[in-house]
Amino acid sequence: MDQDELKRAAARAAIEHVLDREVVGVGTGSTANFFIDELARIRERIRGAVASSERSRRRLEARGIEVFDLDAVGELSVYVDGADEINRAMHMIKGGGGALTREKIVAAVSHKFVCIADESKMVGSLGRFPLPLEVIPMALGHVCKEVARIGGRGVLRQGFVTDNGNLIVDVHGLEILDPPAVETRFNQIVGVVTNGLFALRPADVCLLATMAGVQTIIAAT
Ligand code: 5RP
Repeated sequence: MDQDELKRAAARAAIEHVLDREVVGVGTGSTANFFIDELARIRERIRGAVASSERSRRRLEARGIEVFDLDAVGELSVYVDGADEINRAMHMIKGGGGALTREKIVAAVSHKFVCIADESKMVGSLGRFPLPLEVIPMALGHVCKEVARIGGRGVLRQGFVTDNGNLIVDVHGLEILDPPAVETRFNQIVGVVTNGLFALRPADVCLLATMAGVQTIIAAT
C-alpha cells in the first residue's frame, strides 16, 4: 500500500464514528479529502457538514453535501481531520495546509476529535515538522523576533494567505517536550492568531493506517 492508500484506509475507518442525521465536522488536507469522498457515499445518512476551510467547503459541496456555518449548528458530535504529527498522548501538530485556526475552532466545539493518519505521522516527540503560526500581517516582524527568543526559527510561508486573510510563519528547530506548555507559550505572542499545536484540546482517538491494518489508538495515560 502506498501513502495515499493508507490515508484512504484511515478515512474509510472514520465513517464508523459518524452518527446518523448529524452534522459532521470536516478537516482539511489530503487525508481529509479522502474522508470527504467517503462521506459522500453515505451523504443520505447525515444532515451535512461544517468545513474547516474554504477548500474543504468546496469539495463537500461538489459532492452534494450541505455545508453549514458553524454558528448555525453550535456544537458537533464528531470532527474528523488529519495531522502533520501525532504522539501517543494524542497531541498533534497541524496546519501544514494552513487551516489551523478554523481547525482549532471546529475541534473546540466537537465532542469527539477523530484524527485520521497514515503511520508516518506517529512520532515519539513533536517538533520535527515545523510548527505553523497564523499571524496578523502587521505583526510579522514582531512575531519572528519573539519566536527567536523562544529558540525557534520563523520562516514566512511564501505566497500563502489564510482563509482569514493572514500569514503563516512556520517555526523550525523546536524540541517540544511539553506540548500543552508550548502551545500556551506561542498563544501569548501578540499578533499570533493561533498556533498549530493541538495539545490543550488533543484528539480523542487516532485511526492510524499501517501496512497491517488500521489501528485505533486512544491517549496513553
Ligand atoms: C491542514 C492540516 C492537515 O490536517 C495536515 O496538514 C495533514 O495534511 P495531510 O492529510 O495532507 O497529510 O492540518 O491545515
